Amino acid sequence: MPFVVTDNCIKCKYTDCVEVCPVDCFHEGPNFLVIDPDECIDCTLCEPECPAQAIFPEDDVPAGQEHYIKLNAELSRDWPVIAVRKEAPPDAAEWDGVKDKLKYLEK
Ligand code: SF4
Ligand code: F3S
Repeated sequence: MPFVVTDNCIKCKYTDCVEVCPVDCFHEGPNFLVIDPDECIDCTLCEPECPAQAIFPEDDVPAGQEHYIKLNAELSRDWPVIAVRKEAPPDAAEWDGVKDKLKYLEK
């Protein structure tokens, strides 16, 4: 069961998660990261690293955010791998906790 990046990552994109992934299965878009479900080995290491608590096991994705399961699979095919942490957006803290950020997702 792969892990999934969900709504609160959008515009927060702290990237702490990528540093701990042993199989480099995070992929980066302009303002969001996704996990390739075919590469994720379910090691659990990334989940506690996210300051925005945006990562969940597939079975524990919060109600109403199930569409992120498919979105992670789809976008991971198009976006490049990111394996090294980078600076978060300067306004990341302001976006942490804002609800329903899908409309801000840049592809
Ligand atoms: Fe990578 Fe492990 Fe997180 Fe899967 S659970 S994305 S393998 S760190
Ligand atoms: Fe996003 Fe959290 Fe990683 S905000 S980039 S899932 S550390």
